[in-house]
Amino acid sequence: MAERTGGTPTPTAGAAPACLDDFAALARAVLPADVWDYVDGGSGAETALAANRAALDRVAVLPRMLAGVEEASTEAVLPGGRAALPVAVAPMAYQRLLHPDGELALAAAAAAAGVPYAVSTLSSTPVEEVAAAGGTVWFQLYWLRDRALVADLLDRALGAGCAAVVVTVDVPVLGRRLRDARNGFALPPHVTAANLPGGRDDLAHRGTPGVSAVAVHTGAVFAPAVSWADLAWLRERTPVPLLVKGILDARDAVRAADAGVDAVVVSNHGGRQLDAAPASVSVLPEVVDAVGERCAVLLDSGVRGGVDVLRALALGASGVLLGRPLLWALAAGGRAGAQAALALLAAELRDALILSGCPDPAAARGLRTRIGG
Ligand code: FNR
Ligand code: LAC
Repeated sequence: MAERTGGTPTPTAGAAPACLDDFAALARAVLPADVWDYVDGGSGAETALAANRAALDRVAVLPRMLAGVEEASTEAVLPGGRAALPVAVAPMAYQRLLHPDGELALAAAAAAAGVPYAVSTLSSTPVEEVAAAGGTVWFQLYWLRDRALVADLLDRALGAGCAAVVVTVDVPVLGRRLRDARNGFALPPHVTAANLPGGRDDLAHRGTPGVSAVAVHTGAVFAPAVSWADLAWLRERTPVPLLVKGILDARDAVRAADAGVDAVVVSNHGGRQLDAAPASVSVLPEVVDAVGERCAVLLDSGVRGGVDVLRALALGASGVLLGRPLLWALAAGGRAGAQAALALLAAELRDALILSGCPDPAAARGLRTRIGG
C-alpha cells in the first residue's frame, strides 16, 4: 500500500475500520500475494502512484466559519442524475479476484449507498447480470481491436440499461506493472473476461515467469491507436451521458468537450499507466479552468476519504471516482464490507462539509484552497 505522507495510524487487530485505509490491511490478510500486488501496484517505479497521495495531502482547504450549518447533505449531481454522494465506483477489472461474488457484491453495495457503479469491459461478470443487480450502473468501454465487438458491447450495455458510458482512453497498452511481471501474474481459472468472446481468454490465464498475463491479454485485444475520430463515432452512438476517463492535459479536455462529452475524468489510472504522469489532482485546476463551464469534471487516483472528496470539490470537480479502497473492502467483507466502506465515506464527507461550513457538495465548490499546506 502507498505510504501516506501524513502517516496513518495502524488499526489494532480486530478493530473496526475507522477510515478507508484500514480496509487495506484486512484485504491483504485474505488475498493471495499476487492478487494483492495486482490491485495495489502501479507501473514502473510507482512514481505516479506515490504522487497521487502526496499531491492530495498538499491540498489545503480553507474552511468557512460561522456559516450556521448544522447538518450537511452529501447529495450531488453526477452525469446522468443525482447521487447520494459526489462519488461513483471506479471501473475495475476482474472483481472475482477479490471475492467470489465479485462485481455483483460491489454493484449491490453501490446501489444500497445510492452511488453509480461503473462496470468494466474487463468485468468477470457479464454486464447484463451486473445491470440487473439494481442501482445506477455505468458501462466502462475499452476500445477493442475489433470495431464490431466495440459496437456489440455498447449495444449490450445500453440494452442492459446502463445509464452512462465511460470510455477509458489511457490504456493504448497496459502500463509496465513490475510487480505483476515479477510475479508472473495470471488470472486463476475461475476469473474470466466475461464480457468478451472466449477466444483470447487463454492469454490472461497463461502464467509465464517475468510476464504479466493480463498485459499480454490486453495487448492482444485492446486497440492501441484510438483517435478523436473514434470518440466522435462513439458520441454519435451513445444516447446516454458519455464520460472520457484518463484525461490529464487540459488541451485534451478541450478537445473532448468539443466532441460533446458530458464529463471528463481527470485520472492517471491510479498510477497504473504512464509512470511519468502527474498526480491527477495537480492538473485538476487547469482542466476545470479549461472546460468546467462546458462539461462536468470528475477526479480519480488516490482518493482515500471524505476529506479528499472535499479537496476535489474545492478545486472545482463535480465529484470523484473511488478505486482501490472498495476492492479492499470487497475482499475483506464482500457486499457488507463494501457497504461499510461507502457508509464510512459518507460519514467522513458529511463531517468534512460541516467542518468547512458547507451545507452540501455544491457549496464546497466555492471553498478556497492553498497548495502546500
Ligand atoms: C483499475 N482501473 C481501471 N480503469 C478502467 O477504466 N477500467 C478497468 O478495467 C480498470 N481496472 C482496474 C483494476 C484495478 C485492480 C485497479 C486498482 C484499477 C483504474 C480505476 O478505474 C481508477 O482510475 C483508479 O483505480 C483510481 O485510483 P485509486 O482510487 O485506486 O487510487
Ligand atoms: C488495470 C486495467 C485492466 O488497470 O485497467 O489493471
